[in-house]
Amino acid sequence: MLATNKELLGAARKGAYAVGAFNINNMEFLQAITGAAEELASPAIIAISEGAIKYAGFRNIVQMVRLAAEEKKVPISLHLDHGKDMDVITTCIEGGFTSVMIDGSALPFEENVAVTSKVVKLARPKGVSVEGELGKLAGIEDNVSVAARDAMLTDPAQAAEFAERTGIDALAIAVGTSHGAYKFKGEVNLALDRISEIASRVPTLLVLHGASGVKQENVELANKYGASIKGAKGVPDAAIVEAIRRGISKVNIDTDMRIAFTAYVRKALADKPDEIDPRKILGPARNAIAEVVREKIRLFGSEGKAR
Ligand code: G3H
Ligand code: 13P
Ligand code: ZN
Repeated sequence: MLATNKELLGAARKGAYAVGAFNINNMEFLQAITGAAEELASPAIIAISEGAIKYAGFRNIVQMVRLAAEEKKVPISLHLDHGKDMDVITTCIEGGFTSVMIDGSALPFEENVAVTSKVVKLARPKGVSVEGELGKLAGIEDNVSVAARDAMLTDPAQAAEFAERTGIDALAIAVGTSHGAYKFKGEVNLALDRISEIASRVPTLLVLHGASGVKQENVELANKYGASIKGAKGVPDAAIVEAIRRGISKVNIDTDMRIAFTAYVRKALADKPDEIDPRKILGPARNAIAEVVREKIRLFGSEGKAR
């Protein structure tokens, strides 16, 4: 069934677990995610970026996700990930999304407050949830100064002011994670204590972006079949569990599914060079994505929460 992020994350916060937000661009990813969620009786968030809308087409992707959600017993939300373009955000609010993210994190604080408040005003009458972002989601180099590192992380007092002034339902915070497969050059360097500090001052639901684990097994499989993914490093599972314990209610995953997809498409093509049936090429990748999603659902503690 179709649900909003506010509903899913509110229940997660109360139950001390997190809901996974999984990015899609096509049918195979959608089927893998919703299938795994239904199988494990878990809620799930389908995350669509502006790039995904451009790739798949707005009406196509909205209809596809809403239909998949309506067919499942578990609650599934349709969420705009990293919305930056006001026209796209407005179209999503009016066109069937149940949640939108306004990513004003690159803007000065007052401008971020202004643009985020504007989105909340548009979304609230439609019952659409809003996620804002504060802080810089960039990898923190080992040799960066304490002051420079601090400037990138979300400031707890600013987060409280931001949540209060904008009225957002959820806030994405920066605690040292970044997007993609190369999150850390050296040691894993996360400010998990920041999550506790923010959670103690901000009543808003908290979101962790850039949370992929970059499992070496799938990286090695992709490389074995011709990929060149070197020096990739993600967030350890233990850090994700700790982040949820400290107050994270939504965990964003894209890279781990992309790596699994790449590895298994390459394997299928290499194993059978004469194969031209797309179902035989994409089917194993779809299964591999579903396995990634099952692992995440178990890691986030959301298995069985939609029973
Ligand atoms: O955080 C962004 C997601 O991984 C989606 O990426 O903008 O390439 O679709 P994208
Ligand atoms: P990863 O690149 O770590 O999967 O993060 C995805 C994300 O934050 C999407 O918004
Ligand atoms: Zn993100």
